[in-house]
Amino acid sequence: MNAPQTSAFLPDEDALFRVLRQLDRVPEASQRATAEALGLSLGKLNALLQAAQAAGFIRITDRDSTDRRQRFAYALTAKGGAEKSRLADRFLAGKLAEYLALHAELTGQAAGIVTLKQRTEVMQNNHAPLPELYVSYDSALKLKHEAAALPSWDLTARQVCDLELLMNGGFYPLKGFHSEADYNGVVEHMRTADGHLWPIPVTLDVNEAFADKIEPGQDIALRDAEGVILAIMSVTDKWVPNKAREAEMVFGADDLAHPAVNYLHNQAGKVYLGGPVTGIQQPVHYDFKARRDTPNELRAFFRKVGWQKVVAFQTRNPLHRAHQELTFRAAKEAQANLLIHPVVGMTKPGDVDHFTRVRCYEAVIDKYPASTTTMSLLNLAMRMAGPREAVWHGLIRRNHGVTHFIVGRDHAGPGKNSAGQDFYGPYDAQELFKKHEAEIGVTMVDFKHMVYVQEKAQYYPANEVPEGCTVLDISGTELRRRLREGLDIPEWFSFPEVVTQLRKTSPARDKQGFTVFFTGLSGSGKSTIANALMVKLMEQGGRPVTLLDGDVVRKHLSSELGFSKEHRDINIRRIGYVASEITKNGGIAICAPIAPYTATRRAVREMIENYGSFLEVHVATSVEECERRDRKGLYKLAREGKIKEFTGISDPYEAPTAAELVIDTEGMQVDSCAHQVILKLESMGLIKA
Ligand code: PPS
Repeated sequence: MNAPQTSAFLPDEDALFRVLRQLDRVPEASQRATAEALGLSLGKLNALLQAAQAAGFIRITDRDSTDRRQRFAYALTAKGGAEKSRLADRFLAGKLAEYLALHAELTGQAAGIVTLKQRTEVMQNNHAPLPELYVSYDSALKLKHEAAALPSWDLTARQVCDLELLMNGGFYPLKGFHSEADYNGVVEHMRTADGHLWPIPVTLDVNEAFADKIEPGQDIALRDAEGVILAIMSVTDKWVPNKAREAEMVFGADDLAHPAVNYLHNQAGKVYLGGPVTGIQQPVHYDFKARRDTPNELRAFFRKVGWQKVVAFQTRNPLHRAHQELTFRAAKEAQANLLIHPVVGMTKPGDVDHFTRVRCYEAVIDKYPASTTTMSLLNLAMRMAGPREAVWHGLIRRNHGVTHFIVGRDHAGPGKNSAGQDFYGPYDAQELFKKHEAEIGVTMVDFKHMVYVQEKAQYYPANEVPEGCTVLDISGTELRRRLREGLDIPEWFSFPEVVTQLRKTSPARDKQGFTVFFTGLSGSGKSTIANALMVKLMEQGGRPVTLLDGDVVRKHLSSELGFSKEHRDINIRRIGYVASEITKNGGIAICAPIAPYTATRRAVREMIENYGSFLEVHVATSVEECERRDRKGLYKLAREGKIKEFTGISDPYEAPTAAELVIDTEGMQVDSCAHQVILKLESMGLIKA
């Protein structure tokens, strides 16, 4: 036999595995072809073959061939076959270990994947883990240390919500805040630069002062309101967005009546930063911890309990019997389990606070048949973007392991526009969702409007009510009126436990806190009327009354501020903050600053309406009359140019267009002006007649 010489050493295991596999697959091939297939030189292959033969893994025999290149035949011995299997397993185990280590490094969590041998069935798409942006605990400690030296951005409440969903995979496949190219794609075509469907911009808006300090290529630390470092962002892009265009394309109109458009123009910073995010830790939540789940936690839960199909119900309102009926029906129709998935991040200004809502949901969840339904809280900051928002909600729910999603009439609608019309058509959201259903990867389930049929003592979809029957329904406005006025809420409408919770946080109006906000020119009579009103309210008793007069505030709260637009805004926001705290705690706040800017007054209204009523009173005394009175001699000084930026003379006053009350003080007694306010408060139910 003229076989190759044997050698005493064995090749490395990877090379041996590749040779054994090749010989097993194509035993007839010439040495040259085998060498080519493996990317080896003939000399190297020869050495490997000798070693394999010496170890008893292959048998090399002469072949009856005249062709020199085909002189030998190769075959794996039984020992060689076993070795090949062992090496294959070892190779796969090595790759799996590498994957698991990488997963843990990138997400900070074990992948939860069982080894191939243990796994008995293929994991469903909606059950498999999703990539997160967190690093491992050790890396997080290291990064946190390094981040202390980086420029820091203190995230706004909305940005904290966005960051949490970026990091935990809720916004998968996003890897950070949008770059400029992603942003433009999302605004114009609902797609990121790499073509993924994504309808809502996820942007890090910052003020100009911070933006001036940052250049693309730099890392920044992202901190929560308490200064805790949550993530590091590698800034790749910095740009000034066209907000009017963003409003038109994303929200359908550049109209400040839309809460997100108002946010965009009056709260969001002027500059956007984009770039990938490295997650260090989750934002801290002290409330309802056990009810909050990341996408992977929900997926793991569905996997564990074997829920193949899951229909999600998105809500920002308390649940009543009709909701329970419709969600249960939707689940039955889709033959799916049910996930009640309420938003507890940011919803529409004026919504019932999430603490109350979660207590209501907990009461309702027990009403579903056992083991069919679960509830989890979603820390999303809603934008109220109607159709685009519905698609966004679908993508977010897909990431949370859901297969079906209930979309209703006017899904995530923002209310009326400044012309008093709806921003979106009632079925726009359903249509846009349907159009992208396959790509979203979640099936839409039609939301049925359920009504109570008295004769049958049960709920029916509005279009299936038996003929001649009496339909009972209570609208949201009517429910709020009944709560406000302490009236009965029938059991067919809601569960007694839910009503109890709502009554606790929505006491009758005459027991709630509220704010009366006077605005008007200097010398218009705001302070005088405010003082008279305070005394009248104190005379009635029942709630503590605090007067935040312009002059007094400037002395105690804002002594360092001047009268530039920026300083006036800071001053008014401080007043708004204090008034909102008073209102929240059931007191009466009376504010009497000039407050010359519409947007700032609106911001104050929003702060307060989270907790109670807001009554804006425009003391509409004309500038001529104020100047004629000139009680403090300031108008004279302003005319002489000795006081700069004087409201009404050398600085603007934007008169309110929708104040609850307008008072013209000319020819009126202070007492009757204050009485007008009292009458208005009575008509609003805030004080008893
Ligand atoms: S603002 O614009 O709401 O922050 O102003 P406010 O805190 O109410 O303060 C107004 C009082 O400050 C006095 N003052 C001036 N007013 C307007 N413009 C200028 N430049 C200015 N400088 C001083 C003025 O006495 C205001 O008091 P009132 O009670 O309104 O007359």
